[in-house]
Amino acid sequence: MDRIRIRGGRRLSGRIPVSGAKNAVLALMPTALLAEAPLVLSNVPDLVDVQTMSALLRELGMTVEHDRAARRLVIAGPAKAHEAPYDIVRRMRASVLVLGPLLARYGVARVSLPGGCAIGTRPVDLHLKGLEAMGAEIAVEGGYIEARAPRGGLRGARIIFPLVSVGATENLLMAATLAQGETELINAAREPEIEDLALCLMRMGARIEGIGTGRLKVQGVPSLGGAEHPVLPDRIEAGTYACAAAITGGDLLLEGARLDHLGAVARVLREAGVALHEEAGGLRVTRANGLHGVDVITEPFPGFATDMQAQFMALMCVAEGAAMVTETIFENRFMHVPELNRMGARINVHGASAIVRGVPALSGAPVMATDLRASVSLVLAGLVARGETIVNRVYHLDRGYERLEEKLAAVGADIERLR
Ligand code: UD1
Repeated sequence: MDRIRIRGGRRLSGRIPVSGAKNAVLALMPTALLAEAPLVLSNVPDLVDVQTMSALLRELGMTVEHDRAARRLVIAGPAKAHEAPYDIVRRMRASVLVLGPLLARYGVARVSLPGGCAIGTRPVDLHLKGLEAMGAEIAVEGGYIEARAPRGGLRGARIIFPLVSVGATENLLMAATLAQGETELINAAREPEIEDLALCLMRMGARIEGIGTGRLKVQGVPSLGGAEHPVLPDRIEAGTYACAAAITGGDLLLEGARLDHLGAVARVLREAGVALHEEAGGLRVTRANGLHGVDVITEPFPGFATDMQAQFMALMCVAEGAAMVTETIFENRFMHVPELNRMGARINVHGASAIVRGVPALSGAPVMATDLRASVSLVLAGLVARGETIVNRVYHLDRGYERLEEKLAAVGADIERLR
């Protein structure tokens, strides 16, 4: 298995192009199941998760053409099968996003129930309750969600989410586009990826109001057409490289990144002593003076993203003073803590909060993590640590970061992949 070796201590400076957003493209790809003409996505990132979603759509009988050089995906139906098998769903939980579209367009879906994962139990009850409210009959048997739409198709419904869920909002938004009548999604997630999904669905002919708010209203239409849609830039990748600039006292222009998509992450970085400026072509991130400890609490967008928590914690390891990092979205998202501590960090976890006491320096070590963002936080720590850091299980990084080591090496990091 590949590993990444980093020799710390280099200040990063230059430009990093931000790729299309992983979490956007994984929701956009299943919309092809709804459409009666091909879906063309541009600015598609070259990630293992995109390959996994492609494999799933092919399994459903769709044709998927991925032109990596052109960053384009062309997906065309109709689907000939309606089952998302365990072997694919266990690799990537976002596979559950085919459920709503399959049910809405074909009236039937069989989707393996995703299990827990490294960061928590992650149930899908809200997806299922919402579809039931739209008239679907759902049973869980043999580890599979067996779902069937009523005769005449899904019906519009008023769905109030008891907690904010990105995936449930996406699944139900897609399902509602072809349902009969009006669907209202209340307390819907407001992540930029949802807005991107809604815009793509509108291009296909869907009727959606309230985009960008927590209240989405959808008037069902009888059919949807094809569309061409560019995937929005990855705010989590941008935030991660912002932390790379910050932790090395560097100066990076993040090409294509948008300040408004960072939400509270931008405010918190500024409080910590990092400068962020929008410029033509992207977002400039620099740090000239010391870093200060800042407390953060993860929240749905526009709050501080749980997907940025591990990276921000790596930054706080070398800040002056203490920082309390509270995780409210996932119950088990501190796996990076023992590994950061092995690099000399001083972090104590109490329930859902971690107290990070800044240290003057970290030292390189062999480390590994069991999820994507935890892994990249170890890369960030390695950039500033004395000596050599080897990050094992690079598999996780390849799921969500395109050419990570190339992008960092191009701005001055001493980093390479060991095959
Ligand atoms: C998405 C993102 C992930 C991000 C997360 C939160 C994708 C592919 N993944 O994951 O990177 O960390 O949003 O921003 O876009 N929950 C339930 N019942 C449900 C659904 C969710 O209890 O039916 C809970 C979850 O366990 C979690 C919380 O709701 O505690 C939020 O999860 P959710 O927003 O659904 O995350 P995902 O869509 O899985």
